[in-house]
Formats: sequence, structure tokens, C-alpha cells
Amino acid sequence: MAEKDKLFAGGIPELYERLLVPLIFEPYAADLAERVARLKPLDVLEIAAGTGVVTRALAPKLGVEAQLVVTDLNQPMLDIAHARQHDDDRIVWQQADAMELPFDDESFDVVLCQFGVMFFPGRVTAYRETRRVLKRGGHFLFNVWDRVEANEMAHAVTEALAARFPENPPRFLARVPHGYADPEDSCRPRSRGFSRHQD
Ligand SMILES: C[S@@+](CC[C@H](N)C(=O)[O-])C[C@H]1O[C@@H](n2cnc3c(N)ncnc32)[C@H](O)[C@@H]1O
Repeated sequence: MAEKDKLFAGGIPELYERLLVPLIFEPYAADLAERVARLKPLDVLEIAAGTGVVTRALAPKLGVEAQLVVTDLNQPMLDIAHARQHDDDRIVWQQADAMELPFDDESFDVVLCQFGVMFFPGRVTAYRETRRVLKRGGHFLFNVWDRVEANEMAHAVTEALAARFPENPPRFLARVPHGYADPEDSCRPRSRGFSRHQD
């Protein structure tokens, strides 16, 4: 993965929150928040939280005793998330790389991640970290996109860019957000060390 693929900074956080969140992310946030809330967790960690669309959906559904630690690699994304959230003593905001979570072993009942795992440069490492910080019997809930051809808007954008720049068509959407869509492949047993998803 190119370094710039995981850099959500500059003008991106504001555009992401204003345009992409209502266009794409809100319904999935409601779904994921509902699934997490059903587990009635006390200690919750959100990774790759972005501008907080899931956090906003989840916080009202958690109990008064719950603690929600909200993290992202890119502080500018988290700044928007924090600014948009109502004051809530149950929430802690912290910059954190999913590849190296700055939390003790067995700290959380639930770890959640909406459309973030595709950006991790080493998923095996990130999943190992997630498992380490989960309490025994805890849950990891995350979602990923299907392949780009199955997503009308992302596919149309990819095709339009390919027509406009035939020499060097930008393939970011297909390669990164939609590049982790094959359940057969991601469930296949690994006989030779790392999976190809580690790259
Ligand atoms: C597509 S956005 C999803 C954001 C948010 N969960 C949402 O639903 O809107 C992907 C997020 O992954 C974050 N990210 C990328 N690499 C990361 C890493 N190694 N650790 C934690 N977050 C990362 C980015 O900063 C970005 O906010």
C-alpha cells in the first residue's frame, strides 16, 4: 500500500465529513452501532474511527457505565470526530495506529472498525493486536466493501477516471477500499506463513 493511501489529512477530513459521510457511511454506521449495542459492552474500543460517524451513532446506545475509546491513525480525522460529538464523559479520544495499539492486554469487551481494515498495511498484525487487547470472550466487529464492480458509485467513478486518464487510470478505489472483498480468499487456510493480505 502506498503511504499516501492511508493519509487522511490536509483538506480530506473536512471533505470526507461533509460529503462522503452522508453519501456513503451513515447507514452502515447505524447498522454497526446497533450490532455493537446489542452486546451490551462496558469497555469499547473503536479503531480507524475517522470523523466519528459510528461514534455518533453508538454513544447514545451504550450504557451510562460504558467507556468508549475512539482512535484513528490520523489526528485531523479524530479532531473532526471530537468536535462533532456532544460532550460525553464516557468517551476518550486518542490517536492510535491499529498496527500497534497503545492499550494493555485484555482491556476491551468489544473492538469495532467501520471500513478501516482495508487501509492497514498488515492485517495479520492488526488483527493480532485487536485480539491482544480484547478480553477473553470479547468481540471484534468490522465491515468491508464488496468488490468495486458490485458498488455502483465507486465503479462508475473508477470507470469515468479510466476513460479520462487512459494512460494511467487511478485505481485507488478498486485497489484499497474495495480490495479486500473476497471472503473465500480471506478465509482460506494459509500454508506458507503470511497471507497475501499482509501486504
Ligand atoms: C474509509 S475511512 C473510515 C473512517 C470511519 N470508520 C468511517 O466509517 O467513516 C478509513 C480510516 O482508516 C484510518 N486509518 C488508516 N490507516 C490506519 C491505521 N493503520 N490505524 C488506524 N486507523 C487507520 C484513516 O485515517 C481513516 O480515518
